[in-house]
Amino acid sequence: MAEQTRPRVVLVGPMGSGKSTVGRVLAQRWGVDVRDSDADVEQTAGKPVPEVFVDDGEARFRELEKAAVALALRTHDGVLSLGGGAVLDPDTQVLLEGHRVVFLRVGLADAVKRVGIGAGRPLLLGGDGGIRARVRSLLEERNPVYEGVATVVVDTDGRTPEQVADDVENGL
Ligand code: S3P
Repeated sequence: MAEQTRPRVVLVGPMGSGKSTVGRVLAQRWGVDVRDSDADVEQTAGKPVPEVFVDDGEARFRELEKAAVALALRTHDGVLSLGGGAVLDPDTQVLLEGHRVVFLRVGLADAVKRVGIGAGRPLLLGGDGGIRARVRSLLEERNPVYEGVATVVVDTDGRTPEQVADDVENGL
């Protein structure tokens, strides 16, 4: 494998934390590629994430996601952004050890604002209480997991992607 000449960063965090946007900003600054596990799953499945959920089920999505993350961790030298649920897999948690893992933390209000009506995000649709309630329970359940795998935590509330990218760079 080619020698790594740029910091490789793995961005984790919930939906609406800005992983994709911040990932693009960092990749552009560093002149590296950005890879996104959702996009990798879509390429393998040949359809968008919501269709994978509907046609094949969440379990199949998680299988494809796990494989995509494992491959990217072995082969990608740039910025890697993980889907919000990818870090729940215990094998993935082990694979993340030794990597620079940045948790983009977001509070409920900003997360709700950023996910909007939940378009393209099957886990936010349906259920009781609407999107705000879903986001709240996902944050409560997963924040400890993100904290557990992260080497750096960056708060994103009220900050632009460029400011968050600055904080990521300062934290590395
Ligand atoms: C999910 C987050 C989504 C996508 C899928 C499931 C999750 O990615 O992987 O809809 O479980 O939180 P983003 O965090 O990039 O929106």
